[in-house]
Amino acid sequence: ILAGTNAYAQTEFPSRPITMIVPFAAGGPTDTVGRLIAEPMTRMLGQQVLVENVGGAGGTLGAARVAKADPDGHTILLYHIGQATSVSLYRKLPYDPAKDFTPVGRVTDVPMTLVARPTMEAASAGDLLGYITKNKEDVTLVNAGVGSASHLCGMVLMKALGVPMTTIPYKGTAPAMTDLIGGRVDVMCDQSTNTSGQIKSGNIKAYGVTVNKRLGSLPDLPTLAESGLDGFEVSIWHGIWAPKGTPAAAVSKLEAALQAALKDPNVVKRFADLGTEPVPLDQATPAALDSHLKAEIERWKPIVQAAGVFAD
Ligand code: MLT
Repeated sequence: ILAGTNAYAQTEFPSRPITMIVPFAAGGPTDTVGRLIAEPMTRMLGQQVLVENVGGAGGTLGAARVAKADPDGHTILLYHIGQATSVSLYRKLPYDPAKDFTPVGRVTDVPMTLVARPTMEAASAGDLLGYITKNKEDVTLVNAGVGSASHLCGMVLMKALGVPMTTIPYKGTAPAMTDLIGGRVDVMCDQSTNTSGQIKSGNIKAYGVTVNKRLGSLPDLPTLAESGLDGFEVSIWHGIWAPKGTPAAAVSKLEAALQAALKDPNVVKRFADLGTEPVPLDQATPAALDSHLKAEIERWKPIVQAAGVFAD
């Protein structure tokens, strides 16, 4: 027997399928991004990357699951700006987003669109804002729960208009979209990765994008800034995290698989069709995600305080 053989050598990572927790319902924007990158990541890692949807509480239930998971690299989280805003929005968050995770890398920054049920009478963004201002709480604004991107965008919209709408939380914006298409609810601010197809097929009405440049995939949709709603820049950055204590060897394999996924031609094309693009590869790194998260936690504190929106 070779002297000194380490009978307990670390088994090669990954040694079994990897669970990617998407903290929102299947079929929504986060799930769409997750399933698109899971496929090339699977090829790169040589083990199946399986998306598991864990919805609820604006994504914080799924994030909590990962914070408490075995730090062996086989459980990862795909989350977004909610990882930063939840610090200000939740009084009793069962984890610290900046301490209880190991960052792997940023993924993509997704613009949001202001959309409404197909029966909405308003012809332009200005008309829609007038409708909201007139009808106030009679207008239902749907989102994926406190801490979700759709909640954040709705909060910024209500603050900009100075109008409280009635908000209805879902486990993701896929189920919210179903009620919007059915005309049972009125408006939603959701990521172009979920709304592009529905807008193009005329199932919902679109009024504007929340970034200052029109989307190549929806060239006729004006920006909200063009409609006079200034200072309304909401773009939803996404990241992949592993639990704190995940071995560096596993993290670097996950980082390499993420970067390979962001170069994958199908991912690049599908992202473009959905109004977004992969981050530059130097952003798909642990350091880039960690510094961005910390900056975003600080940036959103005063905005959330001013909006006076909190959850227990
Ligand atoms: C959100 O934050 O609104 C979520 O991304 C919605 C979703 O992915 O279902």
